[in-house]
Amino acid sequence: MALTLAHLSDIHLGPLPKSAAWKDFALKRVIGMLSWNLRRNKLHDPAIAVSLVDDIKSMAPDHVAFTGDLLNISALAEFRRAARWMENFGEPAWISFVPGNHDAYVPVMWEQGLAHLAPFMTGDMAAVSAHPLPLIASTFPYVRLRRNLAMIGLNSAAPQSLTRAAGNLGSVQLRALAKILRDLKAKGYYRAVMIHHPPLPGLAPQRKALSDSAELRDVLWNEGAEVVLHGHNHREMLTVLAGREGNIPIVGVPSASMNGEGHYEPAAWNLYEITRIHGKWTTRVSIRGWDPDSYRIIPKKQFMLPS
Ligand SMILES: [Fe+2]
Ligand SMILES: [Fe+2]
Repeated sequence: MALTLAHLSDIHLGPLPKSAAWKDFALKRVIGMLSWNLRRNKLHDPAIAVSLVDDIKSMAPDHVAFTGDLLNISALAEFRRAARWMENFGEPAWISFVPGNHDAYVPVMWEQGLAHLAPFMTGDMAAVSAHPLPLIASTFPYVRLRRNLAMIGLNSAAPQSLTRAAGNLGSVQLRALAKILRDLKAKGYYRAVMIHHPPLPGLAPQRKALSDSAELRDVLWNEGAEVVLHGHNHREMLTVLAGREGNIPIVGVPSASMNGEGHYEPAAWNLYEITRIHGKWTTRVSIRGWDPDSYRIIPKKQFMLPS
C-alpha cells in the first residue's frame, strides 16, 4: 500500500494582528508590516489557506510536511494565533513543520516565539545536535519515522538584516544531516528532507538564498535523498540534482494562501504517493491548487518524480 505525504508551504497567515509591529517594536517588523499593508495582504487570503487545509484533510494523507513561513513579521500575537491555527489543522504527530524566514523575522526568545510550534518540529530520535541560538531550543535536524517514511526537518531560518530574506544551516546541522541520511539509507527508509529555503545554489536570488547551499548540495550529492521539499519562492518548482548514486528530486510549492493575483501562482499543495517496487522507490506527485475562477481547489497535474 502506498505511503501518502502532503506538502504545503508559506501560509503567511493574515490578517496581521492589529498594531503588532508597534507593540513589539523592531524596525524590520515595521517594514514588514508596511510591505504587508501595501502589497502582501492583497495576495494572501486566509480563506484560501483554510480551503487548502480542508482539501488536504479530505485526502487523509499519512503525513503532512509544512515547509515554513506560517507567520509574517514574527509578532508575539502571531505566534499565539499560529499555535491555535496549527491545532485546528491537525495533530502534531501528523504534521512536520520547519521554520521559514518569516517565522524568525526578528530575534524572539524561544518561549515567546517558536516554542508555540515546538510540538510540530520535535523528532522521535535522540538528539544528534543542538542549535546554539536561544531562539530555537528544538533540535535540528529532527527525524520522524512513519512506517517506511523518514521525515528529516532542517532549520534554515535565522533573523536577517533589514532587506534580506536569506537563510543558513551551519556546519553542525550539515554534519548531522550527512550522518542521518547515511543511517536512514542503510535502514531502507524513504528519506524526505524538509527545508524552507531552496536547497541548491542558483535557485533563489542572493538576497533571499541559503548562504550554505553549496555545502548542502555536497551533502545531498554524497548521501542522497528520495526527495527534498522546500518553499520560500512561492512558486511550483522541480529541480533534479544528479547525485553520486542517483537523482535527487527537489520540489517547491507555491504559497498555500495565494489568490493568484498579479504574476504570482495561485495556492497549491502536493500529494506524494510513495511505493516500493522491486526494491526501488517510486513517487507519484499530484498537484492540487486553487482555481480563482471556480473559487475552489482542483486537481492540476500529475507526474512521476525522477529517481
Ligand atoms: Fe514565504
Ligand atoms: Fe520565505
